[in-house]
Amino acid sequence: MMECVSVCVVVLMMSAARGHSLRFNDLTDYVNKHQEEYVQALRDWVSIESDSSDVTKRAELQRMMGVVEEKLREMKGNVDVMDVGTQTLEDGSIIPLPKVVTAAFGEDENKHTVCVYGHVDVQPARREDGWATDPYNLTEINGNLYGRGASDNKAPVLAWIHAVEAYKALDMELPVNVKFLIEGMEETGSNGLDVLVAAQRDAFFSDVDYIVISDCGWQSARPALTYGTRGNAYFYAQVEGPKQDLHSGVDGGAVIEPMTDLIAILDTLISASGEILIPGVTDAVANFTEEERKIYEEVDFDMETYRRTIGVERLMYDNKVDLLAHLWRFPTVSIHGIEGAFSGHGTKTVIPAKVTAKFSIRQVPNMEPAVVEKQVTDHLHAVFEQRKSPNKLKVKMVIGAKPWLADIKHALYEAGKRAVKRVFGVEPELIREGGTIPIARTFQDVTEKDIIMLPIGGFDDGLHSQNEKISRYNYIEGTKLFIAYLHEVSHIKKD
Ligand SMILES: *[C@@H]1O[C@H](CO)[C@@H](O)[C@H](O)[C@H]1NC(C)=O
Ligand SMILES: *[C@@H]1O[C@H](CO)[C@@H](O)[C@H](O)[C@H]1NC(C)=O
Ligand SMILES: [Zn+2]
Repeated sequence: MMECVSVCVVVLMMSAARGHSLRFNDLTDYVNKHQEEYVQALRDWVSIESDSSDVTKRAELQRMMGVVEEKLREMKGNVDVMDVGTQTLEDGSIIPLPKVVTAAFGEDENKHTVCVYGHVDVQPARREDGWATDPYNLTEINGNLYGRGASDNKAPVLAWIHAVEAYKALDMELPVNVKFLIEGMEETGSNGLDVLVAAQRDAFFSDVDYIVISDCGWQSARPALTYGTRGNAYFYAQVEGPKQDLHSGVDGGAVIEPMTDLIAILDTLISASGEILIPGVTDAVANFTEEERKIYEEVDFDMETYRRTIGVERLMYDNKVDLLAHLWRFPTVSIHGIEGAFSGHGTKTVIPAKVTAKFSIRQVPNMEPAVVEKQVTDHLHAVFEQRKSPNKLKVKMVIGAKPWLADIKHALYEAGKRAVKRVFGVEPELIREGGTIPIARTFQDVTEKDIIMLPIGGFDDGLHSQNEKISRYNYIEGTKLFIAYLHEVSHIKKD
């Protein structure tokens, strides 16, 4: 009896020890051995044209969500498919939004719970846009896997799934509980997700400790942790004049043209040296500290390569730190287009009666889109007023996404550094993202959980453009990174 007890205790202790030690080599061997399957899974996912911006592709997008759901069920996750309501199209018809797929693996109260957010919808892509390969037929060339959605965001979502799968396949206990939240409308603004996150605050999110987002890329060949994204305030400015379009040969000279008004007011937004001219807009911008400068100095960034890649003669700033600062942590104004203006070939002499400019101002800490909205609206009306034009100006902010910024000293980032070190043998770069990932801020504000962005995409993956790709290396080593990360998070002290 005594003997049996002690033997049993030893066995128990051994299995407990096994549960918590990381058999990392076994896991990476497993990943290496299964990489062809992982590439095939990505090929299957990329072959589904889950373009959320094109409603004629909605059946494909629904099919994509079904594939995700089925995969998570196969893995024995606790799967829940959540309705996020409907979408009203421009013609007034109403169609259902793709449901959000969630899954939970493990519910051990003694462990941390990590929620992985990802999306499986994609931007539009057509061969004629300049793709060298069929965008929906994953094609490997020189170690790169080309296909729409390969890097944004299908491979990262699959890498997370395969990370969990590897632990399960080797019968290793997951070091943390893992939840998934996978949506299908990210590329068009995550319709319905805000409402869902708020509704699930005390349900799905109640036991979540940390949220991980892998929906961005590195800045160089070195792995990175992303700790900030800019927000965006997107405006429509509409000038309306005559009842109908005029013909300049007949009517030109009789009116102040709406287009003339519009160009004049747009020209008061930003100077040639990049200074925002709207009164008050930059007042709230956080001061650029010495500490922050030091972080930027550590980033691998070759100005000359960058200049050549984007194909310009001269950049606005002549040193790395200032350039990065203006990409990541200062606001800027971008003018995107003018609706209603003549944009075809040839020399039509039309005078458009109503034109709408689309421009945006990237938001950084501590700007408030609601304040910016008033500043921009007041400014444009004041400038317009001075023109004494008989035309009408309407200004409207249509997107008001706040920036997101994490604390790089947080344990989540320390865990990220250890995981990168383990897999890649180097320290990660700490980077920010100049673009906008609104869901990060929503998660932060609504769930009040700590968030990390842990990218695996390459700096040259071409998200949203032609010939998007992820390298096999980033995909497979990224899977190992996620495996290591789950382990490192389990070492964060519970508070
Ligand atoms: C994808 O491309 C490969 C190589 O060009 C070709 O053999 C295959 O038939 C294509 N598949 C589809 C579904 O078009
Ligand atoms: C930036 O620093 C200046 C001088 O120290 C201070 O007056 C100002 O309020 C600071 N701005 C912000 C947005 O914190
Ligand atoms: Zn994305």
